[in-house]
Amino acid sequence: MEHTSLSHLCTVRLNETHDGVVIVDQTQLPRHEIYLTLTSIEQVWEAIRKLKVRGAPAIGIAAAYGLYLSARNIHADDFATFFRKLQHQGHYLATARPTAVNLFAAIERIERCAQAHTDAPLSQLPDLLRQEADALRNEDAAACHAIGTHALTLLQPGMGLLTHCNAGHLAVSEYGTALAPIYLGQEQGYDFRVFADETRPLLQGARLTAFELQRAGVNVTLICDNMASLVMRRGWIQAVVVGCDRIAANGDTANKIGTSAVAILAHHYGIPFYVLGPTSTIDLHTPTGSAITIEERDPSEITSWGYRHPMAPEGIKVYNPAFDITPAELITAIITEKGIARYPFTELSEWKVNP
Ligand code: MRU
Repeated sequence: MEHTSLSHLCTVRLNETHDGVVIVDQTQLPRHEIYLTLTSIEQVWEAIRKLKVRGAPAIGIAAAYGLYLSARNIHADDFATFFRKLQHQGHYLATARPTAVNLFAAIERIERCAQAHTDAPLSQLPDLLRQEADALRNEDAAACHAIGTHALTLLQPGMGLLTHCNAGHLAVSEYGTALAPIYLGQEQGYDFRVFADETRPLLQGARLTAFELQRAGVNVTLICDNMASLVMRRGWIQAVVVGCDRIAANGDTANKIGTSAVAILAHHYGIPFYVLGPTSTIDLHTPTGSAITIEERDPSEITSWGYRHPMAPEGIKVYNPAFDITPAELITAIITEKGIARYPFTELSEWKVNP
């Protein structure tokens, strides 16, 4: 099940010769569709940090391939030395961004794969790690399609849907999480009317969500973040669908800054608020949302990024958190590839413990 109009748009994959990670540079969208081939772990780190590749699952996939690339260049005479060097590179990659758990989970998974092959010839280890990264990417694609199928059971034809940030094809291997039921519904004639929050300050909603939905032929309307209340009040929204960067054990969810405000609005207007993401985004080591590290980014993203002239007085104090936490009680359901969970979200630990 590949969406034809998006299938050529490559978020992240390994190249044919297995020596580079191909990404579409998301900082250039929607004006330019430029592909980059990243050939070193430093380039992968920079691409993640600068949001050239972004979205929790896509960051994890890029990291897995990045660690594989670095493994190809490790010189070691024994497994212990190989693994120490691999871990060192893993620690480095983990500093790229702090909030999406998929980054850390992917690094751990590649390291676990190496540890499972202590007796393999050292020359074969990079290939084994590449296969593990491929498996991670394939599992993500399957998860996205399953999320779409489960989520569509909660939606009816003709509904108005609001989404925030970008949890679509550009945030994952393919298809998306929050946008997966929209694409599936599109294929089945559901005729959704989608409203995309522009998502200040970096405009992932305007630059990425509006771009990919429009390209797929979905009926999409772009609004500023501060217009969501009016659009809900007018009765144009029957459900909110968002992605996630980390789901704590109790269901508290970190997602793009502004998500919790949308949840509060949805609660006020009695509109269901759905979080969609793969189980790889659930972090049972994080008991509640308060324990999630929230990335703070450069002030210039608020004062001058994307503007012809600075839009704030020089030297102004700026606070620029990139994520916020939506409390579990404001989430109507969390939809993963395993199914639909509702408050108090006991399924989250069952899904993780019995994958
Ligand atoms: O800073 P970004 O663009 O990486 O933030 C992305 C989000 O918050 C997405 O909603 C989230 O990663 C969901 S990805 C399917």
